[in-house]
Amino acid sequence: MDYLDEMEVFARKNKIPVILKDTRIFLENLCKEIQPKKILEVGMAIGYSGAVMLKSCNAFLTSCEASVPNIKLAKQNFEKLGLSDRVEIVEGDCLKTLTKFNDQKFDLIFLDGPKGFYLEILNLLLPLLKKDGILVADNVLFRGMVQGENPIKEHRFENTVKVLKQFNETILNDERLESKILNIGDGLAIVKFKRRNEL
Ligand SMILES: C[S@@+](CC[C@H](N)C(=O)[O-])C[C@H]1O[C@@H](n2cnc3c(N)ncnc32)[C@H](O)[C@@H]1O
Repeated sequence: MDYLDEMEVFARKNKIPVILKDTRIFLENLCKEIQPKKILEVGMAIGYSGAVMLKSCNAFLTSCEASVPNIKLAKQNFEKLGLSDRVEIVEGDCLKTLTKFNDQKFDLIFLDGPKGFYLEILNLLLPLLKKDGILVADNVLFRGMVQGENPIKEHRFENTVKVLKQFNETILNDERLESKILNIGDGLAIVKFKRRNEL
């Protein structure tokens, strides 16, 4: 078992939600293929998905996280993996911190932060995406509840599911965007800007 696998086991044991196996494989392949130089992540947790991406390319990662205990664990994990010099951690509520990124552009953005705010976050992220960049959002099918395969059994998920439905409709109907929803992991949205002559 390598250190990334150990991180995943630690996260599952401690009920820290991290990307599923298929999502890991998708991100690894994507990073190998597009070789991003700059990656932005929203929702770092203990640094698992960030480390997965960094180990598959030579990018620099900027990762946003609000939980102080998670940030502490992520720092230790990046240190152990020898990745610390390729990571900047932006601490605090991403709805605030992302408003201060205005002059930066990223090749790859991975959205895996608070699901109930995906629409607001999308509006903050699109100006940060390079013209030919890719935005990947996790959990957009949310345990089968978004497309109705599974019923919403718990009241606390109602808003999440509502927002994710709106998020999916928005990315699929926005004329500037070319988006797909893939049935990988817990549902991955892939968002790109349309090329100008396709508008
Ligand atoms: C699903 S976890 C991220 C998992 C991580 N991407 C991985 O797969 O290794 C979501 C993370 O978003 C963080 N989070 C929740 N609300 C946030 C906010 N408003 N701003 C920044 N981070 C937030 C949580 O603390 C949690 O660590």
